Amino acid sequence: MYTDIVPHRDILDPIEVASRDEIIALQTERMAWTLRHAYENVAHYRRKFDAHGVHPNDFRRLEDIAKFPFTTKADLRENYPFGMFAVPREKVARVHASSGTTGKPTVVGYTARDIDTWSQVVARSIRASGGRAGMKVHVSYGYGLFTGGLGAHYGAEKLGCTVIPVSGGMTERQVQLIQDFEPDIIMVTPSYMLAILDEYRAKGLDPRASSLKVGIFGAEPWTNAMREEIEQAFDMHAVDIYGLSEVMGPGVANECVETKDGLHIWEDHFFPEIVDPATGLPVGDGASGELVFTSLTKEAMPVIRYRTRDLTRLLPGTARSMRRMEKVTGRSDDMMIVRGVNVFPTQIEEQILKCAGLSAHYFVELTREGRMDEMTVHCEAAPDHAEEAERAASASELRHHIKSVIGVSAKILVGSPGTVERSAGKARRVVDRRPKE
Ligand code: DLL
Repeated sequence: MYTDIVPHRDILDPIEVASRDEIIALQTERMAWTLRHAYENVAHYRRKFDAHGVHPNDFRRLEDIAKFPFTTKADLRENYPFGMFAVPREKVARVHASSGTTGKPTVVGYTARDIDTWSQVVARSIRASGGRAGMKVHVSYGYGLFTGGLGAHYGAEKLGCTVIPVSGGMTERQVQLIQDFEPDIIMVTPSYMLAILDEYRAKGLDPRASSLKVGIFGAEPWTNAMREEIEQAFDMHAVDIYGLSEVMGPGVANECVETKDGLHIWEDHFFPEIVDPATGLPVGDGASGELVFTSLTKEAMPVIRYRTRDLTRLLPGTARSMRRMEKVTGRSDDMMIVRGVNVFPTQIEEQILKCAGLSAHYFVELTREGRMDEMTVHCEAAPDHAEEAERAASASELRHHIKSVIGVSAKILVGSPGTVERSAGKARRVVDRRPKE
């Protein structure tokens, strides 16, 4: 595996290794600016702050942020399409949008300076992943309104890489281009990387012999067990990148390849909090809860205390001075309550990857029989374990792991290789067929 990965300190941005005091001073100054900017230029924030009885002048230290009201996806929808912008529309250099599952998309905007900031944090993320100027970067995140493709693209260019803007889909061609152009890095969702892996195997190519040194995977939850699976299959490093459109796009936080111990949040641009999802009250560093972000430098669309719905916890810095977030367990929306037990798809993923006879493709279906919730895990036999008897053995192994580790009884359906639908972007892990109440 590629080993020349620890960056010399002099190629890092000085703030990445600054003292906590310096980081806090910068955050305090930028937070005060953001609160004023939002209040003075976005009618929605002015109304909300007034109704809440707070004013930007009430902010003196970082803890004071807890006095301000939250922002949710519903606030963005109510102000569709451009009502959350804090600059005249002509100053908005680009918009992106996330479709979500229901209703109107949420629209986000960037000034030219915001695009530059975003490129810098993505460049920093690629460098933390082991990328350097001059490397070739294959981008398979989708290009378009989704922030993945263009976000990765601008960041890779900023770092001085050669970008190969493939976008998602056409898996055969992805493999052909990796073989022919020999990229060092691939940026793609982890679930689509598995589809690329299938294609390598279908073509009789050895994925471990590919040119890839590092994969920068995000846009959906994935486990350390999945990391292991991909690293072994490709003989490459698999590193986690996190972000969301409302806050910026990819590059809000990224793992360092030398430690792979959670994602450093680029705290000079994004201020994190963890709150209890039920009460909204802040919990201390180290405690689990919902991640909330306030942007610190965004001009076109500042966000104040945006509720991400992602569940994680904050940890102190290691390879960088900035705090880390643990790998996201899941979104509160994806939490399934099966006969009173809370279950996340990532917990199921961990158990599937313990079974040698199964591949890593899966989804969970929820149904209701009478008053009881039923959970069915749809997964796939690994290509060399596809005989009927082997499939039955894998199913009973997985049923046992899920019962003993997670504590719920699940139905397991092990299909032949290729039967679980592949997605070229974010995988859909939960199909809820329970009647709406
Ligand atoms: O998914 C931005 C992105 C693109 C991130 C490419 C990383 C790579 P949205 O479409 O707005 O933006 O979706 C954001 O995706 O709130 C999380 O629930 C989830 N998500 C993103 N990255 C991760 C990750 C992009 N590394 C939503 N781990 C977020 C777990 C992630 N979940």
